[in-house]
Amino acid sequence: MNTRNIRPLTDPSKPKVYIETYGCQMNVNDSEVILSILQDAGYVLTEDIEEADIILANTCSIRDNAEQRIWGRIDQFKLQKRKREGVVIGIVGCMAERLKYKLLTAVDLVAGPDSYRSLPMLLEAVAPGKPQINVLLSHEETYAEISPVRLDKNGVSAFISIMRGCNNVCSYCVVPYTRGAERSRDPYTIVAEAETLYANGYKEVTLLGQNVDSYYWKDPNNAGKDVNFPQLLEMVAKISPELRVRFSTSHPKDISDEVIYTMAMYENICKHIHLPVQSGSSIMLEKMRRKYNREWYLERVAKIRSVIPDCGLTTDVIAGFSGETEQDHIDTLTLMEQVVFDSAFMFAYSERPGTLASKKYPDDIPYDLKTSRLNEIIALQGRMSLKSNEKEIGRVLKVLVEGPSKKNPDELCGRASSNKMCVFPSRGEKAGDYCEVEVVSVTSATLICKRID
Ligand code: 5AD
Ligand code: SF4
Repeated sequence: MNTRNIRPLTDPSKPKVYIETYGCQMNVNDSEVILSILQDAGYVLTEDIEEADIILANTCSIRDNAEQRIWGRIDQFKLQKRKREGVVIGIVGCMAERLKYKLLTAVDLVAGPDSYRSLPMLLEAVAPGKPQINVLLSHEETYAEISPVRLDKNGVSAFISIMRGCNNVCSYCVVPYTRGAERSRDPYTIVAEAETLYANGYKEVTLLGQNVDSYYWKDPNNAGKDVNFPQLLEMVAKISPELRVRFSTSHPKDISDEVIYTMAMYENICKHIHLPVQSGSSIMLEKMRRKYNREWYLERVAKIRSVIPDCGLTTDVIAGFSGETEQDHIDTLTLMEQVVFDSAFMFAYSERPGTLASKKYPDDIPYDLKTSRLNEIIALQGRMSLKSNEKEIGRVLKVLVEGPSKKNPDELCGRASSNKMCVFPSRGEKAGDYCEVEVVSVTSATLICKRID
């Protein structure tokens, strides 16, 4: 059994690392990879910044406000430096990659997403007036054989990165510049990692990639054993019917019928697809370089629902992209009404330096208009979430328990296959148990259920 999946105990003689994670699930998993590398080099994790020898922030660049938040945190980290001599402050991840040397005046260490193996070396070399940097991007790095040190609290659900980087050039997006070219991880290391998690009591794995549908592993021996995403899904699903498999993120241009049929074939592949639409206007989608239009998106949704009628569907929406007219905005609203997503991440467009959009398309929607459109989108999604949840009333669901409900300790909470949050009376079950429940009433965020088992 691989003991590196178990949380480390603090050891007073070893340097202590404190890490904060911002941004996406991929970053959460990257922090777990970083800790594994540092633990192997003799460092230990601390959750208390006051006793840290090394303070790391694993950062996000996706919108300007994500970066502004980090600048604020750097100021606070510096207070620790004043309290304890020799504290090292490091910025790693997407913001490190984007800003590179510009960060070196503010912190001691800067490391991009493909340079985490060099962290022990960089930390060794850091000295007063000698900050260290590695922002090289790689075409091969997938951290394939590294067993992440799990940071999740309940030991039930874990992330597994199956690929890194992104080859799409959505015109608004900074990710291809911060995470580099797309590469797929050896599927056998993915399956081994999922097996270890299951052996350690985990009940759910989420396979992560910027665009999981383009996962493709080329057999290095050319023995005809290439693996695509549906095949990988199947390999992981076969580990045990008790191990749930989720994945994120799907791209509407790439999600294939084969993926949808594979999901339908295995009960333990969760019936939820996160399918970012970004806009309901084909004109905006073209400018965003999404490589699909409104009709294509709606056809993919129709296909998913024809094969998996109760499939959970969630999305991302951007309000106020360059040149967005009132009609484009209305197109987004009508698409949302037509699809009825379970939930959505909704953002105001934030121009990112270096992207195609920043060079070609002016950020010309005034702040107030962007905000009012975003608010309209958020309000509509609230109504759609409620509508989507109301359809669940009377349905029987299998829920994976996450723990006691926050509001009432006599109740449990957990997710249905669709990823919807359920609350129901406890009979003493613990995190990681499965329960059968029936939905009796709903809010826009939660399914309130009774026990039927
Ligand atoms: N401005 C606003 N939102 C963005 N996203 C990506 N880039 C930007 C940007 N420049 C959103 C997209 C994506 C999600 C992860 O973040 O909706 O799907
Ligand atoms: Fe994740 Fe994108 Fe933020 Fe990087 S920029 S941390 S890939 S959300």
